[in-house]
Amino acid sequence: MTSILVGFLICLMVQPMVILAWQDYKDFKVYELNFQTSDKDLISRYAKENPLLDFLGPHRAKNESSYRVMVPPEKCDSLVKFFKENNLEHRVLVEDLSSYVLAQRVENQRNKKHLQLPHLDVLGAFYTHSEINDYLDSLPARFPKRAFVKQFGWSYERRPLKVLTITNGDGRRDKPVILVDGTVHAREWISPSMALYIIQQLLDNYSENQELLEDYDWVIMPVVNADGYEFTHTDSRYFRKTRKPTNDPDCVGTDINRNFGYEWGHDEGSSGDPCEAIYRGETPFDQPETQVLRDLMLHHKGRLIWYLSLHSYGNYLLLPWGHTSEFPEHYQDMMSVADAGAKAIVFHSNGIYTYGSTYYVLYPTSGDSADYALGVANATVAITMELPAGGFLGFDPWVSHIEGLVTESWVGVRAMAVEVIRHYPA
Ligand SMILES: *[C@@H]1O[C@H](CO)[C@@H](O)[C@H](O)[C@H]1NC(C)=O
Ligand SMILES: *[C@@H]1O[C@H](CO)[C@@H](O)[C@H](O)[C@H]1NC(C)=O
Ligand SMILES: *[C@@H]1O[C@H](CO)[C@@H](O)[C@H](O)[C@H]1NC(C)=O
Ligand SMILES: [Zn+2]
Repeated sequence: MTSILVGFLICLMVQPMVILAWQDYKDFKVYELNFQTSDKDLISRYAKENPLLDFLGPHRAKNESSYRVMVPPEKCDSLVKFFKENNLEHRVLVEDLSSYVLAQRVENQRNKKHLQLPHLDVLGAFYTHSEINDYLDSLPARFPKRAFVKQFGWSYERRPLKVLTITNGDGRRDKPVILVDGTVHAREWISPSMALYIIQQLLDNYSENQELLEDYDWVIMPVVNADGYEFTHTDSRYFRKTRKPTNDPDCVGTDINRNFGYEWGHDEGSSGDPCEAIYRGETPFDQPETQVLRDLMLHHKGRLIWYLSLHSYGNYLLLPWGHTSEFPEHYQDMMSVADAGAKAIVFHSNGIYTYGSTYYVLYPTSGDSADYALGVANATVAITMELPAGGFLGFDPWVSHIEGLVTESWVGVRAMAVEVIRHYPA
């Protein structure tokens, strides 16, 4: 009797801590699921009905024949039952995700011990939103004529959302603009690293990259989803969306990349269910972070030549449209930019990128940022770059992999920039 009572009390005391503190993913399993095309609808339906399972698949490539599924311990039995009932070939990839998550966390903390701004070793660690902001703020002092930081607004939890403009310092105003954003999705940690790497190439390695700034300015927002990203550092490594509550108390956050007000709200390509990964919000632009990215695009009205959004993972260069199978007017010109990037990467390191319209190459999307950039902000070229996978779930490369990932991706980004500048001279 006493021991039951004590056990009950311990539960009471421990439970809220477990919910509020860092999520260790204890006994979360990762399954690999192989399937035939004919089973795809069945799996998609199951994934939709069970949003607490993280199917890292149905929202990924059309042609894939295997998915990874991250499953909390209490859902394991029913998932396996579903696999067995439908004769789906499956195996356990990870028995207990917690040791992996913990090891990565320790690795990253250790590598950051010596962080001393204004020096920031992009290749040596993953940085938080506030560390990245501090770094951005340190740049104008080092590059007074070339680096300009501006706050464009606040996140839902009142984090300042900062944007860096890089010029060659010649004082010419209103040059055409290459706009790069990162970390629309919180758990895609290679994305802010890539944005930081681009910044360092354009500032510290300027002598090798002058041609990229001769007639163009670069505008870079490394972290759009500041709250979600911070949450992946402090609480829950695999969180994707924003942190603004929804009308379902159990499900927090909206997918910024379904929240833009252009062709918003199609059920093909977004979801009205707050518990789904691709929840579009109650109304277009009801997320402050989406508003900020919109305002940033519109701020450069008339000069926005290339919009590049950095995501992970999958090795894709995705062009509009996401919301329709039709192609935009200057699709072939955009394809030639993507083509230049994909070819440069193959020559550099044999990395294989697939490119084409989001709708065809990946899946339909509705209310994504690239469609808005092209459809409303009149960007000449809009590309979503899905950087390569790393780690167990694709979003979680080790620190030791950052260098390989960002140097390869820079080759592609640089080649695309050269093609944009050649194709659309100022
Ligand atoms: C500087 O840029 C050039 C051209 O992109 C590249 O080959 C070189 O590795 C870069 N250097 C550093 C230190 O990043
Ligand atoms: C998907 O598979 C089909 C048929 O096998 C093929 O024609 C198509 O090019 C593939 N698409 C991609 C993006 O790989
Ligand atoms: C985009 O182009 C359309 C058609 O030319 C124009 O009406 C609209 O004002 C432009 N919007 C921006 C943000 O430049
Ligand atoms: Zn993403």
